[in-house]
Amino acid sequence: MLQTEKQYVQWQENDVTRNTRWLSESQHPAPTRIVRVDDKTTADEAYRFACEGTSMLWQGDFHNARQLLQALARRIERTEQRKLSKAAKSAKSTPDTAVIPNLFHQQRQAQAQRARVLSRLLLELDAGYISRLRRAPEFSAACTVAFGELDEPCLISFRDLQGALGAAQWREKGVPIASLDLSVFPHYGVFAPTRHEYVQLMLDAALPAVHDLAFDIGTGTGLLAIILAQRGVKQVIATDLNPRALACAGENFARLELPSVQLQQADLFPAEARLANLIVCNPPWLPAKPSSPLEYAVYDANSAMLRGFLQGASAHLAPQGDVWLILSDLAEHLQLRTREELLSWFAEAGLEVKYRLDTQPKHGRSQDNTDPLFAARSAEITSLWCLTPQSK
Ligand SMILES: C[S@@+](CC[C@H](N)C(=O)[O-])C[C@H]1O[C@@H](n2cnc3c(N)ncnc32)[C@H](O)[C@@H]1O
Repeated sequence: MLQTEKQYVQWQENDVTRNTRWLSESQHPAPTRIVRVDDKTTADEAYRFACEGTSMLWQGDFHNARQLLQALARRIERTEQRKLSKAAKSAKSTPDTAVIPNLFHQQRQAQAQRARVLSRLLLELDAGYISRLRRAPEFSAACTVAFGELDEPCLISFRDLQGALGAAQWREKGVPIASLDLSVFPHYGVFAPTRHEYVQLMLDAALPAVHDLAFDIGTGTGLLAIILAQRGVKQVIATDLNPRALACAGENFARLELPSVQLQQADLFPAEARLANLIVCNPPWLPAKPSSPLEYAVYDANSAMLRGFLQGASAHLAPQGDVWLILSDLAEHLQLRTREELLSWFAEAGLEVKYRLDTQPKHGRSQDNTDPLFAARSAEITSLWCLTPQSK
């Protein structure tokens, strides 16, 4: 479990003060006001409670809680859609270059507000993640693998519970990677490679002539390390900071019987005296602050991982070695980073571009012209930058 310190929430129930463990993987603060709600509560009443910051402890039928959450989501969407389409219209009609980054920040704020409102619907669970609600399914196995053992009762948001149930399905079904004819099995809280346009880039790039040892920095499910091992790299050392990613990648390597891939928990580079012939990294693509640990794989505050990776790469690279950086230019279209900045970071790190492979993503959001960020998303290119130490 990533949450290190236990948190407790106190509330009044029939004049009795209750004190219960608060579980929130999305790191929402413990609720300060709690009312009991049930099957008779209307969606409008619940929406009012949630918007004014009151959390609702569900006492009704389990499936009705799910429907209530959907009804809340529809209400939030209607409000947000109105705000965002207004902002998107003004973006089209004004040449002001600050409008696009504003749209991105507005969209993130809207997502955060949506998460806050939806997380106000709570469930009380007994130790072992057991629910006493009518028609509650069995979810203790899914919660235990996602959040760890639970030896006391807790309050949890219905939304976090759904997150654990969704993750359990991904973990069981896996994400098929068609071009490799295999699936990877993501764990809860680990970056799921559902957009795998970069897999083809990893297959197309020419391996360095000598490819005895490669490092995969920020391995997630282990996908890039798997590709390198399958392409014949003799030994791959894969790192990640996130213990869930390490457990997940370890399982994927074992499932595919890849003894040539080793794992290390590390901040970027492995503790390894040997230099690598190839170092690959697919850092989070957007320079923005993650709002919870669940977003560390998507947002890279101040481009810390990207810049740290570039700065450290040469010191870990063998002569004639290559660095493969997988990066989309969405941040450039959103005006969160410029191409010049990226190129200057390469130069400052003593690296130069040997070649670049590009591909255009085809995922749903890049085709959705109702998305306020459609202009940026539809222009996005994902690249594999092959970098080498600057020639003296
Ligand atoms: C965008 S995901 C990519 C995962 C995987 N390589 C892939 O392509 O599917 C970025 C990964 O980097 C990891 N990460 C972030 N900062 C890191 C750091 N400083 N050191 C090592 N790993 C890091 C995250 O936990 C996450 O698994």
